[in-house]
Amino acid sequence: MSDEWRVPSNDEADDWPETPGVDVGVPSVARVYDAVLGGKDHFAVDRAIADKAMAAMPNARVGAGLNRAILERGVRYMAECGIDQFLDLGSGLPTVRNTHEVAQEHNPEARVVYVDNDPIVLAHGRALLAENDRTRVVTADVRDARGVLSRPEVVELLDLKRPVGLLLVAVLHHLADEDDPAGLVRAYRTALAPGSFVFITHFSDATPEGRELERLFLSTLGSGRFRSRETVESFFEGTELVDPGVVFLPRWRPDAPVTDDSAYAGLTMIGGLGRVPDA
Ligand SMILES: C[S@@+](CC[C@H](N)C(=O)[O-])C[C@H]1O[C@@H](n2cnc3c(N)ncnc32)[C@H](O)[C@@H]1O
Repeated sequence: MSDEWRVPSNDEADDWPETPGVDVGVPSVARVYDAVLGGKDHFAVDRAIADKAMAAMPNARVGAGLNRAILERGVRYMAECGIDQFLDLGSGLPTVRNTHEVAQEHNPEARVVYVDNDPIVLAHGRALLAENDRTRVVTADVRDARGVLSRPEVVELLDLKRPVGLLLVAVLHHLADEDDPAGLVRAYRTALAPGSFVFITHFSDATPEGRELERLFLSTLGSGRFRSRETVESFFEGTELVDPGVVFLPRWRPDAPVTDDSAYAGLTMIGGLGRVPDA
């Protein structure tokens, strides 16, 4: 691998050689999220925002971990329903228990296309590509549904005539109301075969801490909208919501009893899974 594309690790991200499209002086959603999760692939400018978020909500890291945990439960649920191809929109930097790892644990033939508009995700994704010919990483804006769905990597790896697991995990809140997130989900959903799933997690406006985080994220990152349960439920239009519907993340089909700490941190986000009905 050339030095230009070398993936930073440990504490070296700040010294990372210049990468096309990556500005170390401008914060990125993917890198701030990595910092909140406790990862190592972010710069000082990202860490500063993550620190402020953790000051506003001391267990924000637990909250981010709960989002990764529901991602795993959701992918596992879909895989157990027979889904063997996934389109992960706004996939973020690789971290623990990525979609392809969970899906391929259930079915080694499962295919996954990751899409993110941050070029750093592709730079890191190359390491994934090297080890897995059933995984692709695409740099694209998820707001362009038609463009994403016609990308060669998507068309070559996924068969859209068969059911797909569509992931919009912690990404729709980075879209403004003017971007029409409901219309965007509809554009993807109508392109999916019956039996497909739409999996969404989203910042919740239910708590004062959430509303403070919204102010912080909008003023520093320019995105991060905390929406109501009714609004997030509306994104599932045209699907049958899997039990228990749109709920705080720790309440969605938990593997283990919900603790006080996770119950509190889990108020930051809500999520659910909808199935595209048979024709
Ligand atoms: C909070 S991270 C979520 C990562 C992962 N889905 C998860 O839940 O762990 C949000 C990701 O969405 C990406 N993103 C935000 N807006 C996007 C857009 N318009 N198109 C593509 N990716 C976008 C960011 O770059 C970031 O990596």
